[in-house]
Amino acid sequence: MKKVLIDCDPGIDDALALALAAGSADFLDVVGVTTVGGNVDLSLTTANALALREFLGMGDVPVTPGSAGALLRQTVRAAHVHGAGGLGDVVLPAPERGASPGHAVDHIIETLKADPGEITLVAVGPLTNLALAVRREPRVVEWARDLVIMGGSYTRGNHNPAAEFNMLADPEAAAVVFEAGWTVTMLGLDVTLSAVVTADVLERMRGLGRLSELLVPAARFYGVVTAEGGPAIHDACAVAYVLDPSLFTCVPAVVDVETMGQFTRGMTVTDFKLRDRRPNALVATSVDVERFWDVVLGAYGKLAAR
Ligand code: BDR
Ligand code: CA
Repeated sequence: MKKVLIDCDPGIDDALALALAAGSADFLDVVGVTTVGGNVDLSLTTANALALREFLGMGDVPVTPGSAGALLRQTVRAAHVHGAGGLGDVVLPAPERGASPGHAVDHIIETLKADPGEITLVAVGPLTNLALAVRREPRVVEWARDLVIMGGSYTRGNHNPAAEFNMLADPEAAAVVFEAGWTVTMLGLDVTLSAVVTADVLERMRGLGRLSELLVPAARFYGVVTAEGGPAIHDACAVAYVLDPSLFTCVPAVVDVETMGQFTRGMTVTDFKLRDRRPNALVATSVDVERFWDVVLGAYGKLAAR
């Protein structure tokens, strides 16, 4: 059983990542969900996380709100991709329970401190909460078992030609996280754009009872507005990696986040040659798409059958 703490900004693909975690309860113990302003405002990402916790049957896992905006930059949102509320046109039942008291940054620090070496951090939104945690308590770097992010790319951007959304939304935070001294496992657009909900996958989602009421409209909404050849459920890749790292090929690299470029702010400049530097990242370079979907749809199937 692996323990994970998921920092997210739901977000359609964040929701599908949480569904993957919820459906993998035999292998993953979700010890916390923290939220960050990202795809939509913090109030909405938190409301969505709370609704998802109940819809997905995640029990009493604490949902703790965190940072509303980037460390330095003006807010960038992606409501044009995820819909004004963040979950496309999906309306989940109103949750009965509220968020945990306190701030995500404290929750991350305290949770890791209480269980050093055991908890994998999975971050699938802008890295603001993680950067603040590292700055406030640098020992989180030692306490975390691993850090797995969806973000960046060594080949392209999506928000603009250079930068992936989560990096662009808070480049200074991303730089802090990459420079913190741990190894960041980076599932970037290079692989996540292959995690596409094809017509066949959508068909398999349709058979999943009540869960399909989230998955199908969310994927269809996302599919309509993305331009990369189909709705790619980026964030689910980070959870899938924790479940089965062998789904991905990962290569050590030095990753620097561009914070000053006029046209390249948020770019993850990736050097596989390492030169004289110690690698700070394990960068995913390929994904076994067929096995990825077997894992994801298998977990969704288990969740639907509960
Ligand atoms: C990432 O940006 C967000 O819009 C998605 O939720 C995902 O985390 C993809 O670039
Ligand atoms: Ca996200």
